[in-house]
Amino acid sequence: MDSAEIEQCFEVALGLVKEAGQVVREAIKKQKTIETKSCNVDLVTESDKAVEKLLIEGLAKAFPSHKFIGEESTAAGAKCVLTHDPTWIIDPIDGTMNFVHSLPYTCVSVGLWAGKEALVGIIFNPILDQMFIAKKGQGAYLNGERIRVSGQKDLSQALIFAEMGTSRDPEKVKTVLTNLTTLMPRAHGVRGMGSAALGIASIAAGWGDAYYHLSLHCWDTAAASLLVVEAGGFVCDSAGGPFDLMRRRVLCASSPELAQEVAGLLTQYQPTPDGDLMG
Ligand code: IPD
Repeated sequence: MDSAEIEQCFEVALGLVKEAGQVVREAIKKQKTIETKSCNVDLVTESDKAVEKLLIEGLAKAFPSHKFIGEESTAAGAKCVLTHDPTWIIDPIDGTMNFVHSLPYTCVSVGLWAGKEALVGIIFNPILDQMFIAKKGQGAYLNGERIRVSGQKDLSQALIFAEMGTSRDPEKVKTVLTNLTTLMPRAHGVRGMGSAALGIASIAAGWGDAYYHLSLHCWDTAAASLLVVEAGGFVCDSAGGPFDLMRRRVLCASSPELAQEVAGLLTQYQPTPDGDLMG
């Protein structure tokens, strides 16, 4: 895609994400209709579904040849396969558990990938009015202001974001707890905020120094990983190798040095990759 096409994609997506944000802003104040998906803490609400529909219908109308991967479409049985074709990867409400509890740390996340690389990333927390955007090679921005990672290299001075994720597979839970026990005494602090996209965006904004997750999905990282790269940060697999969007493991850091140190300390876990799991 050339830069004019990318710009057009960005503008259309930005308008739709703002509309989606309005839906989330209204819905968070109201009673939610909640269903469970893979387990009793993997939640979906009518708003997740409504927002995904709004985004996919709007983008498909503007870009009929483009493909889609959406969290709720995948849960409903759609294929979750990333090809080289332009593909919109959507988490309509990231931090659904927070949204259900009216905790204002939740967002809409939309990434555009083509040729298996990220071109556009938009993450919007409509409750706190935080709009994070990135376009490949053009930097990362929060509400129009350029953002950059902290540059921190020293784990003892680093604020680390880590999360449990939604599955309660005993091996994964054990790995998560082992990693917390390893990192807590070595880092400045460890936080788990309940939205992968916002957690990773926080690394891009320099509000924390590293984020890792051993069982998220492509829609959690499709936009956020671009933000970190465009903010001058480092994105890799949780073991330190190349980042693979579909492999469900990520480590984002303010510097390669910090990423390698954290990767070396983590006990690893490999969930079923996205494409194999669904579709
Ligand atoms: C979840 C959130 C959470 C992360 C989970 C994700 P969802 O996304 O990002 O922070 O730990 O792994 O599934 O389900 O709220 O869109």
